[in-house]
Amino acid sequence: MKIGILGSGNMGRSLGILWAEQKHEVFFGSRTAEKGQAVAESAGNNTQGGTNDEAAAFGDVLLYTIRGVNPAEVLTSIDVLDGKILIDCNNYEIPENFAYQPIELSLAEKLASEVPQALVVKAFNTMAQEVFELSPQPLNEYNVSVFVAGDDEDARKMVMSLAADIGFAPVDCGELRFSRLIEGLGDFIRYLIIGQKLGGYATISVETLPEAKNQRLGGRQSSSLH
Ligand SMILES: NC(=O)c1ccc[n+]([C@@H]2O[C@H](COP(=O)([O-])OP(=O)(O)OC[C@H]3O[C@@H](n4cnc5c(N)ncnc54)[C@H](OP(=O)(O)O)[C@@H]3O)[C@@H](O)[C@H]2O)c1
Repeated sequence: MKIGILGSGNMGRSLGILWAEQKHEVFFGSRTAEKGQAVAESAGNNTQGGTNDEAAAFGDVLLYTIRGVNPAEVLTSIDVLDGKILIDCNNYEIPENFAYQPIELSLAEKLASEVPQALVVKAFNTMAQEVFELSPQPLNEYNVSVFVAGDDEDARKMVMSLAADIGFAPVDCGELRFSRLIEGLGDFIRYLIIGQKLGGYATISVETLPEAKNQRLGGRQSSSLH
């Protein structure tokens, strides 16, 4: 897969390196061609680097790491995004004292409204950079969930496959509107990591357990609550 990285900071650099290790073709984009080229040079693995415009033109899948900035301010023309998968890994800035507001419109939905011809998919916002450093092994032994939401099913499947390639356990969360919940999880895990001092290796794993052999608690009864 040809992958373009828009913004080569912590997330862009980390995911780009990991995908390149798995033999994807990666182009690191940046505000300056020099920085994009420097990131590619240190990443190796046949990666390329340059401007965000060049990265957007290169990739069939793009990673958008530029929180809250309209792509129209980043790219010369947003037409280059038409029909492409645009992964949004962003979380809102942490408010003082973790006093998060309820998410009525997710960053991913805002992004989708700014580039309506792109296939926006939410993913990779619920684990810290430290976790990426463990990819693919021993990460793949820990069933770390990547929650994936987007309105286009094929785009979701592609992003799930990119998550599995680097040792994560993708979880299909359905339409893009569910990114509100996923961003809420991103807020929660950062509260646990920073506020409760669990550290950057704290993650979220969805486990599906086997059915109990005997339902000694009486099993699930229909509820009388409405
Ligand atoms: N770091 C983590 O552990 C982590 C984990 C999960 C999710 N996230 C989320 O992922 C997003 C990126 O985080 P990060 O840690 O990668 O941040 P970062 O290291 O600061 O990288 C963000 C990059 O965005 C680009 N950028 C910043 N302002 C810009 C502007 N006005 N116009 C164009 N480009 C601009 C810069 O790229 P260039 O310098 O290359 O131009 C910058 O390096 C955030 O929303 C964060 O909440 C982070």
